[in-house]
Amino acid sequence: MEHWTKDEKNQVLKKSDEERLNKLHDEIAQSIWRAQYHIQAVTGLLNDPNGFCWFKKQWHLFYQWFPFGAVHGTKHWYHTVSHDLIHWQNLGMALEPDLVFDNAGCFSGSAFPKDDYLYLLYTGNHKENDGHRIPYQMIAAMNAKGYVTKLKHPIIEPNEAYTEHQRDPKIFYENGSYWMLIGAQDHQQHGHLILYKSRQIAIGWEFAGELKVKGYPYFGTMAECPDIEKIGDQWLLLFSPQGYAAKGDEFRNAYQNVYLIGDLDLNALTFVPNGPYQELDRGFDFYAAQCASQYIYKNTAVMVGWLGCGDCTYPATDEEGWSGMLSLPRELTIEDGKLRQNPIRTSEQIKGEKIFEALHGSIMTDTMHGRTPAACVMHVDDPDDNAFELGLYSQTLKKGFSIVYEPNHKYFTIDRGDLENQCNTMYGTDRRIKLENGLKSLEIFVDHSTVEIFINHGEYVMSSRIFPKPSEHLIRMRGKDISLIVWKANSTVADDFKI
Ligand code: FRU
Repeated sequence: MEHWTKDEKNQVLKKSDEERLNKLHDEIAQSIWRAQYHIQAVTGLLNDPNGFCWFKKQWHLFYQWFPFGAVHGTKHWYHTVSHDLIHWQNLGMALEPDLVFDNAGCFSGSAFPKDDYLYLLYTGNHKENDGHRIPYQMIAAMNAKGYVTKLKHPIIEPNEAYTEHQRDPKIFYENGSYWMLIGAQDHQQHGHLILYKSRQIAIGWEFAGELKVKGYPYFGTMAECPDIEKIGDQWLLLFSPQGYAAKGDEFRNAYQNVYLIGDLDLNALTFVPNGPYQELDRGFDFYAAQCASQYIYKNTAVMVGWLGCGDCTYPATDEEGWSGMLSLPRELTIEDGKLRQNPIRTSEQIKGEKIFEALHGSIMTDTMHGRTPAACVMHVDDPDDNAFELGLYSQTLKKGFSIVYEPNHKYFTIDRGDLENQCNTMYGTDRRIKLENGLKSLEIFVDHSTVEIFINHGEYVMSSRIFPKPSEHLIRMRGKDISLIVWKANSTVADDFKI
């Protein structure tokens, strides 16, 4: 592994870095693991999605970005835009850490459109010379031309009731006020969600209090990247807690992204959940999800997550000088009190040429020449109570990335342990879900180094990064009386260089 010195990790992007980064991009653009239809680090490292919203007839999506390499250095915000949530265009850097208040990074945050401006709220990660960290909540305004102006002082100072961990503001408007939901850690090292309130976006923010979530005095050791969305007449609360232990088949990743559905009372600052918290994604790599501030999709939240996880590394692409990808946007609805997550409806546009079709048949792999397409969309329907097995990127005597459903126990299992390039094996190489109602359908999105599986029309999702070698290219399928269609994927996200 390449070693990064403190000074190298503290670099801030300058105009003069353009040539060197352009060269880095030229190199990484050759990688077999670059995606065709996912947003990925233009160079260096991508982590959380930030500032996701609909503004001036476009979707805007920013991401946490360290430009110079695959390491968590000083974070900038990188800006991408889309008309349909599928075709994305790189615009360049939006926020750079150039103030004393954000000297160690412009950390995660959200966006809110008002009049002619898009307001970007973020955490200024300030570090003193001795390494002591002080978090400030900051604001910037972007005009319709994409020009960003930062307010040069914090809108919220650090709250003494909490430690240096106070970050990731999510702004929302409710009951005639703006609210900011922030993740915080108390002095007993417990995670909380705290609320600030103001009548105006850029001034007048006051501490309202802790959000009291019934049944949960606190959330692990820290709750990162909180988000709250009204879907119909219910509220969805998302956050990424740290310090949760694995419980059977659940919570097996280093950190997880969880949700609660319930009632929010902002007068009493209470949230009453209708059930226990659950993971948003049951695969290996999903964290820091954010819903868009938008009114286009009614009674539906539009959400994107980071296909990664803090404290995890992805050596295959780290060595190439880049790391990180965002998930496909998902549509979130609540049906009978349960969360449903489906691929955004415009993802139909990802489907290109149909390369395989078996309707209620036994599956043979020949039509696809026995090869896993580098990027494709697969639909599996009506497996009923038959066993089903799919091995992507396999080779002789190796299963590759295996997807298995066993009707006897109703276990749906993914396993990446048989691939040559491994990552984060200390958290196990398989993930399993018991499908109480059996397997009804699968939608599988494969994009060079990601596999996202939507199970039973959005009942569960499992997302995984994988790094198959060129020698791992076979596909294996086994299933009886099953319908399977495979489409090649179009390229919808340009891998161009713009800073
Ligand atoms: C989550 C997180 C946030 C923070 C950001 C820094 O992955 O740790 O809490 O704002 O990443 O990049």
